[in-house]
Amino acid sequence: MKDIILAKFAEVFGDAQEVQTYFAPGRVNLIGEHTDYNGGHVFPCALTIGTYGAARKRQDRKLRFFSMNFEKLGVIESSLDDLVPSKEAGWTNYPKGVMWAFGQRGMEIPCGMDLLLNGNIPNGSGLSSSASLEVLTGFILRDFFRYEVTNQDLALIGQFSENQFNKVNCGIMDQFAIAMGKKDHAIFLDTADLSFEYAPIKLENAKIVIACSNKKRGLGDSKYNERRSECEAALEELQKVVRINTLGDLDEADFEKYKNAIGSDVRRKRAKHAVYENQRTIQAVEALKNNDVKRFGELMNASHVSLRDDYEVTGIELDTLVEEAWKAEGVIGSRMTGAGFGGCTVSIVQDDAIDAFIEQAGRAYEAKIGYAADFYVVEIGDGPCKL
Ligand code: GLA
Repeated sequence: MKDIILAKFAEVFGDAQEVQTYFAPGRVNLIGEHTDYNGGHVFPCALTIGTYGAARKRQDRKLRFFSMNFEKLGVIESSLDDLVPSKEAGWTNYPKGVMWAFGQRGMEIPCGMDLLLNGNIPNGSGLSSSASLEVLTGFILRDFFRYEVTNQDLALIGQFSENQFNKVNCGIMDQFAIAMGKKDHAIFLDTADLSFEYAPIKLENAKIVIACSNKKRGLGDSKYNERRSECEAALEELQKVVRINTLGDLDEADFEKYKNAIGSDVRRKRAKHAVYENQRTIQAVEALKNNDVKRFGELMNASHVSLRDDYEVTGIELDTLVEEAWKAEGVIGSRMTGAGFGGCTVSIVQDDAIDAFIEQAGRAYEAKIGYAADFYVVEIGDGPCKL
């Protein structure tokens, strides 16, 4: 991939002298969905697929961007004096947002750059192509200008840029999973205080299979921000009767005790999901520690049911993929992953059942939905790096 992006860089920007190349992964969340902005736990991992970048400093303040994923858009030009979000800037709002966020933290970017990207994360799939691009940009800026920021800071800066610049109120999970990724490990992260633990994923005779529904999902135009406000409102109502900082502070029993303080059925369901999903995530990691992959799978399935019925973020495409997975031989667990409303499902499937699962679920999906899903057998990879 390094050769491909260097050759394209030379073609697009004249030559490839003094160009540096980088990579940042995508991520998949195994369990703990819509808990990260509720002070709960998540359990994501970085993937070996991700975003590749080739970058070079400029003498002036110009920014020139080119994406091999959106070749038709050509070179998109901007400047360090124009770090404001705009519709026309399209995908470049992500790297620009990170440059802006560095500035907000007192790390002004001293000179412009040419940046070429090539990602192999299916775009809009819910595998965090945007967070990958944010962390990649932060990693390049740190490498170019020697800022003293840790990988965890890169995650926080990425999230800050997404919240403040791109106006998506996302939690910390995606950027954290990407910036802190570790090969063959998932990250058990407590979003209340960012304490975390790496858990080895030893799936004997099984693999992680991602099914992409090909229903495009944009966080901005989805109901993501609405779900977040519903949880905030439910938390405020609960805080009138119990001393908690976040929904993640409650276990199932406490929730049942206090839930009537929440004044609407809808908000009660949203909060229930946040509380129960957090507890499921804790139990799932425990199950994995005990090598109980079967139990892990059951908790994944329960997570999907809750996301479908209480959080209401699935939709017919994701439900179909998951229901087909549940029917298939050799599937240990299956659920939607990411924000929902489209995007992907994640399943743990026994090695000898993978081909048949992809065949059957793929056929049933296409027959019901009218277009095909894509399947990827993925591997857990490391965080960002220089190539
Ligand atoms: C998106 C957000 C994350 C998280 C998930 C849902 O991926 O970016 O912060 O909230 O949705 O778990």
